[in-house]
Amino acid sequence: MHREALQAIEAIVTADREPYETIQVRPLTPVIGAEVEGVDLAGDLSNRQFAEVRRAFLEHHVLVFRDQRLGAEDHKRFGRRFGRLHVHPLQAMREGDKERLEIKASKDSKFVAGEGWHSDVTCDAEPPMGSMLYLETTPNIGFGGDTLFANMHLAYEMLSAPMRAFLETLSAVHDGAIPWVQGYGYRPNQEFQVNEHPVVVRHPETGRKVLYVNRGFTSHIPQLARFESAALLEMLYRHIETQPALACRVRWTPNTLVFWDNRCTQHQAIWDYYPLDRAGHRVSIVGERPAA
Ligand code: SIN
Repeated sequence: MHREALQAIEAIVTADREPYETIQVRPLTPVIGAEVEGVDLAGDLSNRQFAEVRRAFLEHHVLVFRDQRLGAEDHKRFGRRFGRLHVHPLQAMREGDKERLEIKASKDSKFVAGEGWHSDVTCDAEPPMGSMLYLETTPNIGFGGDTLFANMHLAYEMLSAPMRAFLETLSAVHDGAIPWVQGYGYRPNQEFQVNEHPVVVRHPETGRKVLYVNRGFTSHIPQLARFESAALLEMLYRHIETQPALACRVRWTPNTLVFWDNRCTQHQAIWDYYPLDRAGHRVSIVGERPAA
């Protein structure tokens, strides 16, 4: 690794962190992800517990809560503590609860949600600040269907100084049709959200910079020639996808809720359990317009 990359990791690893008093937080890696214990998400979190969960969320970006018994209303109530719930365009077209997106794979699936690296719905003008996926059913062999998460602060900080400076002059177009084309193999005849966001944004709560392009939604960088844009985006995606130091891997067990900060992470669902079932629901919380 080059010097900037090592310095970026060192800054995270050696940062001062206050201990937690009302919850237990067990990091999954030094740079992303933590298991949280001592919280019943179906009950009422005290204000102190909630403040510590929020701090853990900002420090670790991905929180794993195991052995939770959550009905739909519990799931949404926990989501609403962080803001207004998002209605996913797919769920908007379905019958039933618009605020919980069903995530389901079985022997009849042709593809699964989130199989490629992405952040959720960055085509929106105000993409979700976070998503909470609660899986009741995991593959009945006891393993498989893990989710990978990568730290996009670190992805930015690990680039060289000239590359970081160049990226800060650019924006990128995010197009809601891309996941349909990737999943179904064609562009349906309907309107999709298309929005432009800076390539480097600041996290609205911590102020830290984030590399904000993703294979799932970003179509191109309008300031560049198409071949330049394609090459630059491919280089950045390869950086994200081939650098294991950016990532953690969450192993699911039934009744686990994972809450990720969609503003500074990307994730990928691994479909290594066909033809078995994996199922649950996702609640997302509306965020702010990404800003440089
Ligand atoms: C998603 O992209 O929300 C799906 C993640 C998963 O199923 O692990």
